[in-house]
Amino acid sequence: MNVDNFRLQLGGKEYVPIIIGGMGVNISTTELALVAEKLGGIGHISDAENGYVCDRILKTSFVSQKRKKYARFINNPDKSEVLFDLEEVAKAQKLYIEHTVSKKTGNGAIFLNCMEKLTMNNASETLKVRLSAAMDAGIDGLTLAAGLNLRTLDLIQDHPRFRDVKIGLIISSVRALSIFLKRAVRLNRLPDYIIVEGPLAGGHLGFGPDDWHTFDLKTIFIEVLDFMKKEALNIPVIPAGGIFTGTDAVDYLRMGAGAVQVATRFTITKESGLPNEVKQHYLNAREEDIVINMASTTGYPMRMLINSPTLRYAIKPNCEGLGYLLENGGKCSYIDAYYSALAERKPGEPIVVKEKTCLCTGMANYDCWTCGHTTYRLKETTNRLDNGKWQIPKAEDIFLDYQFSRDHAIRLPEPEPLA
Ligand SMILES: Cc1cc2nc3c(=O)[nH]c(=O)nc-3n(C[C@H](O)[C@H](O)[C@H](O)COP(=O)(O)O)c2cc1C
Repeated sequence: MNVDNFRLQLGGKEYVPIIIGGMGVNISTTELALVAEKLGGIGHISDAENGYVCDRILKTSFVSQKRKKYARFINNPDKSEVLFDLEEVAKAQKLYIEHTVSKKTGNGAIFLNCMEKLTMNNASETLKVRLSAAMDAGIDGLTLAAGLNLRTLDLIQDHPRFRDVKIGLIISSVRALSIFLKRAVRLNRLPDYIIVEGPLAGGHLGFGPDDWHTFDLKTIFIEVLDFMKKEALNIPVIPAGGIFTGTDAVDYLRMGAGAVQVATRFTITKESGLPNEVKQHYLNAREEDIVINMASTTGYPMRMLINSPTLRYAIKPNCEGLGYLLENGGKCSYIDAYYSALAERKPGEPIVVKEKTCLCTGMANYDCWTCGHTTYRLKETTNRLDNGKWQIPKAEDIFLDYQFSRDHAIRLPEPEPLA
């Protein structure tokens, strides 16, 4: 039996039950999401730092314009007036999503990973604009992530596509799911799919640095299935986190999963947005190099490679141009950490910011190497080249390996001559 023996049923359509998870900032690129879509699965893009991503790939100038507008705050720790122009947020969102969905060629779908914790100094209005503009631009599905999303459905209930767009939710416990569902029932808008993310996933986590290893995806997944049965809810449940082979995926599909969501194996593909030299760091990682810490300013634990450059640099907060993680009122824990380090610095010594990192800049520059726990196994999935580097596989090969492999086999890519 392989993954191809199963199909995900969603809103009257059938998909290959493989979903490539959203990876911000622009790690799950348009090109990566489109591979899944072409092969009949579902690919995510992420709208994290959407203005910055547009500038990079579509040559717009959202960031430089915003930085110019707020230049007077560059040396001011008070960022309360550094606000996003909602029309510009909508414009960036539409440009990026239209750019992606206009290139669809297959029978699959393109979904958007939308993190509630991207608070942008005006949490609910900016979230509403991001979601509404995504629907206007023709996104197939919205995956609500990084947060409990308790009021998110309310924000978009008047949008004409509220009942037609697919809406899913990422949770890491039955408790978070049941709280979300209470509100969804009141709006008569249940989610179309539920992603259960376990402790081995990449990005931000619902588990702490000290206790993540006491949880496991299978147990939480079964708890969610039992809860759904008890509530007589028939919504696809999709496990994520540590599903490394097609056979791992089949185990979940046989237990009743609607599909699986995977990401780590795609981080090192040609289509991933990570620079090639960073992909080599992922491939070289050992298990002990992969840590969970509280360096993210979101307040959520995050998994990353210990040698991420962002953990070592102390740059001035960059909120005038970026500012995606400003809480309402213009607060960010990195600003506090930076200015107290500045005050404590001895003359002639560099600034050392402990504990927090400037996540906006770190993610934008691909200097925060967030990753899944199984990153240390990526070396099993490709060939070592004569020059000591690793071959970079195509996303299509990885997708098809998940779809057709058996017995935990991992098919290596066809060797390529050195460039
Ligand atoms: C590099 C990386 C970045 C990620 N970024 C995000 C993100 O921005 N938002 C999110 O909801 N999940 C994010 N994730 C989680 C994935 O979407 C996915 O659910 C999870 O990593 C699947 O587990 P796997 O990586 O073990 O296959 C990220 C994962 C990785 C590996």
